[in-house]
Amino acid sequence: MSPLRRGVKSDAPAVAQRVADQLFNDSRVEPLVASELPRAEFESALVASHSPFWVDDSHGRLRGHLYGATLDDPLHGRQTWTGPDGYSFDVEGVLDNLLEWAYREWRAGGSTAHLVWALAGNGTQAWVERGYQIISVRGSTALEDVEPTPWPRGQRLRFATIDDLETAVAFDEMIDQAQGVDVSALSEAQRAANAADVAELLEDPECRYFLVEVDGRPAAQCVTYPLPALRGNFPDTVYLGSLAVHPDLRRRGLARVLVRTALDAARRDGFGHAEVRWHINNHGATSLWSALGFRPTYVQLRRSLVEGPAGD
Ligand SMILES: CC(C)(COP(=O)(O)OP(=O)(O)OC[C@H]1O[C@@H](n2cnc3c(N)ncnc32)[C@H](O)[C@@H]1OP(=O)(O)O)[C@@H](O)C(=O)NCCC(=O)NCCS
Repeated sequence: MSPLRRGVKSDAPAVAQRVADQLFNDSRVEPLVASELPRAEFESALVASHSPFWVDDSHGRLRGHLYGATLDDPLHGRQTWTGPDGYSFDVEGVLDNLLEWAYREWRAGGSTAHLVWALAGNGTQAWVERGYQIISVRGSTALEDVEPTPWPRGQRLRFATIDDLETAVAFDEMIDQAQGVDVSALSEAQRAANAADVAELLEDPECRYFLVEVDGRPAAQCVTYPLPALRGNFPDTVYLGSLAVHPDLRRRGLARVLVRTALDAARRDGFGHAEVRWHINNHGATSLWSALGFRPTYVQLRRSLVEGPAGD
């Protein structure tokens, strides 16, 4: 008889223990991964979630769990997301059973793909063997390693405001393009949603929106803000995103100086770690972040639920 079943409220402490053990192991492999798990919070979020989870229950001993949140994405449609704390398995056969049950339910709910975060390196193998492809990377650095860099002459750095919305949206589109999005094919609704996201960042008091001007023209931008609690992150983590340099001014060290400046400001604000994300096909970003001392911690993998082997 299959030891698989739907998870229930009373499973939460055992699932939390498995997640805590896994995070501890991840942090031993990669010290930029934080091992702390706020257990009570984790357990109540698991129980309160609208999405189901499954457990492999071998005579009262859990051998694995799987959770995925199915949500609508404006660009990619309905997909299911699993964080680094959303799964565990003692052996790969347990993962296969969990996925078989979950795929059935996710597909029935209209989900077209499953996205999962796995520890960079060894953590990805089981997923790759099951048809998943790496799509993006979370990279971190400890800010004590960042040295202040002098800002080059003739360039001006200021904070952007909502009056810079058009400029900020144009930079945002450069990032989308670098990540393989055909910006010209976006619908009006998608463009409006993107512009609203940028406006939100420009107006968020917790967010620093850096804008570099060269000869009075917008040359580069990036954004920093405190990263909300995220599994595997240290609580003092600043997120750095929306980095873009005008195409005419690339490979002159602008991004390097801007990032160093933004991180130095964050360090002075009390942050101890920084996180960035990049798309795996964005070769410029992949080289840049490693040149600036960021190391991959978790990678996101994706598998279509629509075509290919059904898993059931
Ligand atoms: C990625 C990007 C921000 C880099 O800006 P930049 O000002 O050209 O970068 P820098 O000149 O400071 O480069 C610093 C280092 O990063 C690496 N690097 C940057 N761009 C690179 C590229 N296209 N290919 C390979 N390495 C690159 C190099 O190691 C470089 O050092 P080097 O020039 O001494 O070899 C810029 O190409 C860009 O705006 N791209 C489109 C938007 C985007 O992809 N943003 C990042 C999203 S995560």
